[in-house]
Amino acid sequence: MRKLQLSRTGFNKLKSHQKELKVIDFEDSIKSIPPGEWCIYSSPTSDEAWVGFINPNIQDKFACAQVLTSLPKGASTFEPAIFIKECLAKAYHKRLMFKGYDKGSRLFYGTSDGLTGLIIDHFENASVIQINTAGIDRYRDHIQKALSEITGVPAFLLDNAKYREKESLPSFENEPLPDLKIIENDVEYSLRSDIIQKVGFYYDHRENRIQLQQLLNRMTFKPDKGLDLFCYAGAWGLNALKAGVPWVEFVDQGNLQEEVMNALKLNGLVDRGLFHRNDVFKFLDEAISKNRKFDLILCDPPAFAKSVQQKPQALEGYSKLHRKVMRLASPLAICTFSSCTHYISHEEFQKNILDAANKEGRKIRLLYCGMQGWDHPVSSLDDKANYIKSYFYILE
Ligand SMILES: C[S@@+](CC[C@H](N)C(=O)[O-])C[C@H]1O[C@@H](n2cnc3c(N)ncnc32)[C@H](O)[C@@H]1O
Repeated sequence: MRKLQLSRTGFNKLKSHQKELKVIDFEDSIKSIPPGEWCIYSSPTSDEAWVGFINPNIQDKFACAQVLTSLPKGASTFEPAIFIKECLAKAYHKRLMFKGYDKGSRLFYGTSDGLTGLIIDHFENASVIQINTAGIDRYRDHIQKALSEITGVPAFLLDNAKYREKESLPSFENEPLPDLKIIENDVEYSLRSDIIQKVGFYYDHRENRIQLQQLLNRMTFKPDKGLDLFCYAGAWGLNALKAGVPWVEFVDQGNLQEEVMNALKLNGLVDRGLFHRNDVFKFLDEAISKNRKFDLILCDPPAFAKSVQQKPQALEGYSKLHRKVMRLASPLAICTFSSCTHYISHEEFQKNILDAANKEGRKIRLLYCGMQGWDHPVSSLDDKANYIKSYFYILE
């Protein structure tokens, strides 16, 4: 394995547990290293060494080298294939620690699980793998085989060309996927392979949806009419129906009518919901103009910013959305506001909701604040991998 000497900045980064390096962090030139090569990083001032992979094609404003693990003391070499299989097995067993996560979960969450650029979602009948870095892409066949040995279900590669662009990775033709069978919080779904988004399912809100069920189960009366905005397969609304809310309307611009209706059927909830294929903002304007009211509104939009520069527009988007939602909320309605925008903190998101309430003349009472599920591990709220926020309120 190639050995590279770290510069003082690189060494200091590794000593402070940073996982990403740039060109200036190496004494050696990395220009001619083939994309995705795994290397040993060391410094003449220390007997410690680390292992990672390099992609010199990455623009310098981004990290071109990843740090994955430290090299065991005394070892002079390292076998990536063995390390990768160990990381997969460890990640799988960590998911098995929690009831329900065995049936389906985000099985691998990139750097947080030890391999930058590898995302895996696990379902009843398949696992779906997304690879976004050249260092991991070198082992795509190995990962596919090792994963199905560990889980006992077939594993499929589902590349996302947009994410792979940054690493100049080729786009392979995606393998045909089966329809995905999903169980989360005792709710069942079956998703057609041709409509799935991301790696299949938004497991990131599992704990928040459990909390929604708990909240509804502990209320002395049930909200009568629910609304699930940006519903995808209907997960938030289905959790509310499971907890006894009699009726939920689902809204998404995607072709998801069949998925939502099918989920109602699978869960014995036929005739308890309606799907509207529409732009949410348009739907909200129409519903406001008809003076419609809902007692439970579940709002889980897509990310509103793709870079930190887009943050002001994202906050404006949330403000517009939250104000419209509040206009539809009946007195004492329960509203859940969620965000998956990386660049917006819990504080900023909360303030956005409070400002919207003040502008709409609504008094709000915070019931719950939540983060991503335990299959999206982070070490603190400031962790780069932390992105989910979910806040539940009563609107007076
Ligand atoms: C983060 S996902 C929602 C996940 C979903 N709430 C769940 O828990 O599984 C965002 C969804 O919003 C939909 N979407 C994005 N922009 C939209 C818009 N302007 N109007 C309606 N749906 C939209 C996408 O089709 C996608 O299904």
